[in-house]
Amino acid sequence: MGRIVFTGGTVVGAEGSFDADVLVDGERIVAVGTDLPADGAERVDVSGKLLMPGFIDGHTHMDMPFGGTVTADDWDTGTAAALAGGTTTIVDFSLQDVGGTLQEAVNTWHEKASGKARIDYGFHVAITNLTDEVKAEIPRLADLGVSSVKIFMAYKGTPLYAEDADLFEAMQVAREAGVLVMVHAENGDVIAKLQEQALAKGNTSPVYHALTRPEEAEAEATNRAIQLAEIAGAPLLVVHVSCAAALEPIHRAHELGQTVYAETCPQYFAFSIEDLKKPDFEGAKYVCSPPMRDAWNREPLWRGLQLGDLQIFGSDHCSFNFEGQKDLGRDDFTKIPNGCPGVEERAQVLWSLGVLEGRISENRFVQVLSTNQAKVHGMYPRKGTLAPGSDADLVIWDPMLDTTVSTANRHGNVDYTPYEGLTFHGGPSEVYVRGESAYRDGEVLAEAGSGRYVERRFMKPEI
Ligand code: URP
Ligand code: ZN
Ligand code: ZN
Repeated sequence: MGRIVFTGGTVVGAEGSFDADVLVDGERIVAVGTDLPADGAERVDVSGKLLMPGFIDGHTHMDMPFGGTVTADDWDTGTAAALAGGTTTIVDFSLQDVGGTLQEAVNTWHEKASGKARIDYGFHVAITNLTDEVKAEIPRLADLGVSSVKIFMAYKGTPLYAEDADLFEAMQVAREAGVLVMVHAENGDVIAKLQEQALAKGNTSPVYHALTRPEEAEAEATNRAIQLAEIAGAPLLVVHVSCAAALEPIHRAHELGQTVYAETCPQYFAFSIEDLKKPDFEGAKYVCSPPMRDAWNREPLWRGLQLGDLQIFGSDHCSFNFEGQKDLGRDDFTKIPNGCPGVEERAQVLWSLGVLEGRISENRFVQVLSTNQAKVHGMYPRKGTLAPGSDADLVIWDPMLDTTVSTANRHGNVDYTPYEGLTFHGGPSEVYVRGESAYRDGEVLAEAGSGRYVERRFMKPEI
């Protein structure tokens, strides 16, 4: 690893785009501009390409036990897929065991990631049991480099589900500790009841996954979480917002000046409830929570991204094979493991459907994929910007690159892709992680284990 100067490209940042060279020394960016002191540096000609800060995905699930099985991607294959999509840092969800501590959750996730991750990474902790010990641990999360906890208002009947009292108290403790609370906002009680009623009527096929998780159940829980956060005085991050109804309380909160961050995901722009109706159980490939919605929701979600109500675009990559995993629910949709792969496709979906369709600018693209992610997830300015002193995580984006997705050209470990046959225009041709070429022209170059843990600190950013 040495000095590299990227020449002839256009730097695309959160604030604007400009023609400039980028000089890297070792793991860091040292200069961005023209006429850089680059004597002796290796020259990489990026004419005709865009230079962007490495993408950050604050929402992945690697090697995670869920729904009676374990995700298909571990930290090796999942981070290979991430790299192929231009992602240089992920923040993954470590899960507290019901009888365990947050420290143990973080330790377990370190064991899973260590020696396997090909990109940099951090951990959230999903709280499943708010014991007195856990409450005492939250203020110490900073010592572990963890700046965020997730609480599930859904998945009633599983250890993940939390009652309002625990959600609210976690918000109070987190506020004092300077830790960000993230919520999976769907009304778990209503969904459990609707599922029970559907199964009693013999409605077992995948589309009932969506029909028993109505938009209003997400909207209600989103509003409830926002109101509880207001009472607790806590900043909030609502993850995987899927529909217009859930966006409404977020918009209202912003009008009232409340600190509410919100994330949406590629699957809600690429797919709809119609995909869950595919025959031969193919609909199971599109089962995730919240579910795919009626397609009309997409335009309001785009507006949310344009206007700033939705500030980050994460993948919620949670991959299960069709054979042997999704098919656990052939006779009962509630047994289909929830989740879809998307870490590899995230940026290309947003570029093709967002930037090329004129819905968002290339700078908004960088904000929601990288800069805002770094800010919300407590890694800015080390990550999320091409600036002197920042880690040399770079995406060389080729606007002329066409990719037709197939399972065969994916870099993860899943036996299908929901994006099969879709063609994306524009994509990453080369990716650098801390000054090392980690991906080039379809090939993952970074070694398993080369990724490093990133300590994070929540700074309540204004975005
Ligand atoms: O279906 C999903 N989203 N699975 C992953 C777990 C979660 O709720 O984020
Ligand atoms: Zn969730
Ligand atoms: Zn998730």
